[in-house]
Amino acid sequence: MLRYVTTNPGKVREAERYLSDGSVERLDFDYPEIQAPELGPIAARGAREAYRHAGEPVLVDDAGLFVEGLDGFPGPYSSYVEETLGIERVREVAADLDDRRAAFRCVLGYCDGDGFAASPDPVDRGDRDAAAAAGPGGEEAGPDEDGEADALPVKLFEGYAPGRIVAPRGEGGFGYDPIFEHDGETFAEMDTERKNAVSHRGRALEKFAEWYADR
Ligand code: IMP
Repeated sequence: MLRYVTTNPGKVREAERYLSDGSVERLDFDYPEIQAPELGPIAARGAREAYRHAGEPVLVDDAGLFVEGLDGFPGPYSSYVEETLGIERVREVAADLDDRRAAFRCVLGYCDGDGFAASPDPVDRGDRDAAAAAGPGGEEAGPDEDGEADALPVKLFEGYAPGRIVAPRGEGGFGYDPIFEHDGETFAEMDTERKNAVSHRGRALEKFAEWYADR
């Protein structure tokens, strides 16, 4: 049984369409999220933690809002910024910018304890990639970021949605959806089906579902 790991009901609602063949269940597990400058390592670390907790195949979802005029901020720190500043303040800051373009990015991390055959979507192996790049002996450089010499491989699926920051509109969605406009509509003005068709999460889930069908 595949477990979709999140405490966010909004993400579950959006993922259901892609994972609704009865072989997936939500796992309400709040894995400790590391702070890192990129989403991939955060999703990979979360997937390892969740797999160790569940002992079954897991899919974790890490997302963020990247504002061009703020050099990509809040990006991987989106959750912290939403909790502390709130989306209204983010929109106020963006209102002063010349460039209000922004993008949502989502990285899904899949871990089932096994390795992966090559495919276009990347695999995170903890520090082993860096150790290998360091040359002979690099593998023995010490434990990886998880504190383990042998990190579980995690397959990553990325999705991207371009848009811009606007004054809040719409009642649907969650998080930053009311201030993110794509093609004239905010994500909060779209129903789930429409958001999925264009969103970062929809794109990543589509890639995952296609790959997972052959797994
Ligand atoms: P996380 O992926 O749960 O860590 O979410 C990071 C932050 O981005 C949180 O503040 C979420 O509310 C927000 N977020 C994630 N996905 C979306 C989305 O699809 N729409 C709006 N906000 C999102």
